[in-house]
Amino acid sequence: MASFRVRGGRALRGRTRVPGSKNAILPILAAALLTKQRVELHDCPKLSDVENMMAILRLLGCEAGWEGDTLFVNARDAACYEMPEELAKEMRSSIFLMGPVVARFGKARFTYPGGCEIGNRPIDLHLQGLRDLNVKILEERGQILCDGHAMRGADVHLDYPSVGATENIMLAATKAEGQTTIRNAAREPEIQDLQDFLNKIGCSVHGAGTSTITIEGGQKELLGASYRIIPDRIVAGTIMAAAAITGGEALLENVRADHMHAVFAKLRECGAVLQISGDKVLIRGPKRPREMRLIETLPYPGFPTDMQAQFFALAAVADGTSVIRENVFELRFKHAAELARMGADSTVKDRMAIIRGVEKLCGANVVARDLRGGAALVLAGLAAEGETNVDAVYLIDRGYERLESMLGELGADIERRP
Ligand code: UD1
Repeated sequence: MASFRVRGGRALRGRTRVPGSKNAILPILAAALLTKQRVELHDCPKLSDVENMMAILRLLGCEAGWEGDTLFVNARDAACYEMPEELAKEMRSSIFLMGPVVARFGKARFTYPGGCEIGNRPIDLHLQGLRDLNVKILEERGQILCDGHAMRGADVHLDYPSVGATENIMLAATKAEGQTTIRNAAREPEIQDLQDFLNKIGCSVHGAGTSTITIEGGQKELLGASYRIIPDRIVAGTIMAAAAITGGEALLENVRADHMHAVFAKLRECGAVLQISGDKVLIRGPKRPREMRLIETLPYPGFPTDMQAQFFALAAVADGTSVIRENVFELRFKHAAELARMGADSTVKDRMAIIRGVEKLCGANVVARDLRGGAALVLAGLAAEGETNVDAVYLIDRGYERLESMLGELGADIERRP
């Protein structure tokens, strides 16, 4: 298993470009199954999750590959409606394919998905939404069988604004006869990106970014498209947290500042200075971060759960005591125990963490337990005295394309070891 060796103590300095968003590209890849025309996607990150999604598309009969930095999918000859079990288990996002597979073939056979170990992650809202669209669903021996031949548009109310469920229902509804309205929909920027892509291939979707989304369904032949993915707000936030934790200065290019208000507010609260100009953000980290009184993770536009671990690391070296409340996923504090090996002082109880900042962390051998928690350990390593080894880097690779190169460009002393 590859690991990162990080030597701490260097302030980050320089500039870097933020790649396209993982959480935007995954549902858009699923959407590519809806059209028989070729789709080209630009600015896609080369991540293991993206490769896995492409592998699944190939097994369903699509062509999918890279031409330089452009990802293409041609679903003209797609023929299979069964989700390969091994790949689905590896990747939770395979669930997004349920909507498009039902839409395309009128039926689907899936297994329960896998993914990061950050909580229960049930799929009841996905299934309820599809049932509302009159998809017949049978669950037996870990398999989910869907019959969507009588699918039709409907009013769908989500009990919770789940990102994945909103996307899945949007995708299925594009082929359901009549209008679908999703209420209490998730409002994440990635959902708006999915809407923009769907409209580009000829669908009619409105309202993404608000909590009511409408989809005019129907059996139209959809088009091909050439589409650029939005920048990854979590990668941008992670690099900014790295600049803040090391007291460095970094210029980030290809940033959607309008997607990052909650993260910017907390960076400012810990003493960072931000200058925003178009798609560029310059961050100057404080000498030592100040405490952040309360960070509460919430659905967008609240503070993203995907930034919680990185801010935990920041709080670990802050001057004062910070409190984090994790409202979205129930098991998302696994990094606390690893950070404790580096000298972090925190108390975790259920969904709450109290973090008493220490002046210095010290290098240690730690293990990434999930994707963002792994990134948090790297950030802690950048700020720590001495050497940190972060194991299980494959989890970090799910969401960061060569994090070591990005941080290395900014002057960090970090090396990947086989
Ligand atoms: C997406 C993101 C992930 C991010 C999360 C929350 C992608 C590929 N992943 O994940 O990075 O952390 O949004 O911003 O976009 N829930 C249910 N039943 C369901 C679905 C969800 O109870 O059917 C619960 C989950 O257990 C969780 C909460 O809803 O507690 C949020 O999950 P959801 O918004 O669905 O996250 P994902 O789409 O899985």
